[in-house]
Amino acid sequence: MSTAAAIRPGRDDDAAGFIALVGDCWAEYPACVMDVDAEVPELRALASHYAAKGGALWCAERAGRVVGMVATRPLGDGAWELCKMYAAVSERGSGLASRLLALAEAQARAQGASGMKLWTDTRFTRAHGFYEKHSYLRAGPIRALHDLSNTVEFGYAKPLAGVVARQLDTAAAASAETRLSLVLRDCVEDGASVSFLPPLATRTARAFWHRTAAEVAAGRCLLFAAWLDGEVAGTVQVDLATPPNQPHRAEVKKLLIHPAARRRGVARRLMREAEAAAAAAGRSLLVLDTCEGSAAEALYRSLGWIETGRVANYALLPDGSLCTAVMFGKHLPIRPG
Ligand SMILES: CC(C)(COP(=O)(O)OP(=O)(O)OC[C@H]1O[C@@H](n2cnc3c(N)ncnc32)[C@H](O)[C@@H]1OP(=O)(O)O)[C@@H](O)C(=O)NCCC(=O)NCCS
Repeated sequence: MSTAAAIRPGRDDDAAGFIALVGDCWAEYPACVMDVDAEVPELRALASHYAAKGGALWCAERAGRVVGMVATRPLGDGAWELCKMYAAVSERGSGLASRLLALAEAQARAQGASGMKLWTDTRFTRAHGFYEKHSYLRAGPIRALHDLSNTVEFGYAKPLAGVVARQLDTAAAASAETRLSLVLRDCVEDGASVSFLPPLATRTARAFWHRTAAEVAAGRCLLFAAWLDGEVAGTVQVDLATPPNQPHRAEVKKLLIHPAARRRGVARRLMREAEAAAAAAGRSLLVLDTCEGSAAEALYRSLGWIETGRVANYALLPDGSLCTAVMFGKHLPIRPG
């Protein structure tokens, strides 16, 4: 297709096109059936429906046919909900869905939203990949709608503005593999000394984050992600798997900020979250190591970490040379017992 589909505000009289589009998308999945009047009557006057909720609706058209739609509405808790995100099969891979999502996010942001939430059918695997690519992570419990399609839905969410760091539970960690792989790959390409050497295959990066999710599930690792203006931009881990004689110690590792998101305070925010969570987990001593002369060395000093020693020829840098490691420690002020 040479030209992009046109996007405009949705209208009530788009009803026939919206019903056909949603019906076609549902029909792609097994046992997903549509009874408009019984279960989705709002489709008959969708613009009025979202206007009454203080939200907005968009329609994408090509040659007079509705080929895409999206809506958003405030939830009242600072977050907005993304709703009715559909693109026709003929538009998949064209960038239309991303353009619609960007419009809905921009609208919510302009109205002061702190974050976006959404529900997606557990059967809609293509949608899960789409949301994860756009930095949404699984959040909260699964919900069942008890409807004709026996719909069961995953919740997804992301912060929309500024720098936000959050600890990830296992569901969020597993859904973060796509974005965290991108951060890891681009940091390694950029010259970071973080276990891997370039070129880092996506498969290797994904396998690493999958293993990390399993460590989170086992309670051996605390994993954090940070968003910068709605995109996953960084991560850090606290390794709790210390030997029985060091129950009070943990290691901070894999602090990675995407090269395009540096010097915006993302690492500082992540480190603060990680240190607080480590203390809450009863760890009073943190250790880590980093390359001599790296940006990370300056960061740790600025956060009050104390150098405990140096080891020459510790690790290979991506250019094949050896770096000296600087060892750091930090005692956390936690109350015993
Ligand atoms: C090191 C790294 C995590 C810093 O991330 P960041 O988000 O850019 O850091 P922040 O913006 O939070 O910076 C916080 C402070 O760290 C220090 N700092 C960060 N980058 C620095 C740099 N390039 N030179 C000197 N100091 C730097 C500064 O004190 C900075 O505060 P300031 O901006 O007010 O001066 C990032 O460069 C990175 O991911 N590097 C590659 C991976 C890596 O080396 N990880 C550490 C493994 S141990």
